[in-house]
Amino acid sequence: MNAGKKPCLSGRGVTKEFGFGRNKTVAVDGVDFDFYEGEIISIVGESGSGKTTLAKMLLGLINATEGDIFFQGKKRNIGSHRKKKEYWKSIQAIFQDPFSSYNTFNKIDSVLLDCIRMRGGGRLPREKKIELMTEACSFVNLKFEELTNKYPFELSGGQQQRLMIARIFLLKPQILLADEPTSMIDACSRTTILDTLMQLRDEIGMTPIFITHDIGLAYYVSDTVYIMERGKFVESGTADQVILNPKKPYTQRLINDVPKIYEEWDLSTV
Ligand SMILES: Nc1ncnc2c1ncn2[C@@H]1O[C@H](COP(=O)(O)OP(=O)(O)OP(=O)(O)O)[C@@H](O)[C@H]1O
Ligand SMILES: [Mg+2]
Repeated sequence: MNAGKKPCLSGRGVTKEFGFGRNKTVAVDGVDFDFYEGEIISIVGESGSGKTTLAKMLLGLINATEGDIFFQGKKRNIGSHRKKKEYWKSIQAIFQDPFSSYNTFNKIDSVLLDCIRMRGGGRLPREKKIELMTEACSFVNLKFEELTNKYPFELSGGQQQRLMIARIFLLKPQILLADEPTSMIDACSRTTILDTLMQLRDEIGMTPIFITHDIGLAYYVSDTVYIMERGKFVESGTADQVILNPKKPYTQRLINDVPKIYEEWDLSTV
């Protein structure tokens, strides 16, 4: 399926250990992966399987204990703060807990202005900046004029998650790590958010990586699925291969846990 394509993000033996001795946890245990540009990827696993830890390493928020991460075919080198900032133009994330991603002292307009600045638009006239922020907010069904004087913590969890997507709209990264991007949202708005992310993917050509415990969501959105169990990738392949024809009992268990909402899909037949 990916013949001739280049991976945008790869890992070899990527490992993260926390603690020492008897308190040691191997959160991510020597994973290998090749994520290809334009593909929609899902990483699925139960709570505590290491998904967020892997996402943080991919983003460069924490260092791997062992192993290498390759970005666009080259070993990633983001040692300095300047290199990290450059890297974050290409890769961004939406986290499980949106509140933790915002600086408490910044109002919403300054959160969005930062994104414009990161994309090199710092010197644009004020009206143009407002136009861009308004467009980004309306893309996720938020009204910019109602938000300007507010802080992110004054929004509901779902609104915060939508604000994160508005940031992505402005930042236009090549890769988006979406770690349970709909955890704070009701089932109905959830479909809207997923559709919005897909629309964004078509619009700016980014590669989304969904991180979730919900294999039904993975089946719904992705081309390629990686199944994570206790820090390891135990199975991977196309969504049909992995989810309609699972090889591991663990994958089958994740499928059995799929909530009833997905029953109308083909999953009900496995
Ligand atoms: N900063 C940390 N210090 C110590 N242990 C940690 C730390 N972060 C994560 N862990 C441990 O690493 C393991 C993996 O955690 P992680 O948050 O990556 O799981 P997850 O798959 O994202 O789970 P969830 O679906 O609940 O979000 C867990 O056992 C967790 O307790
Ligand atoms: Mg997590």
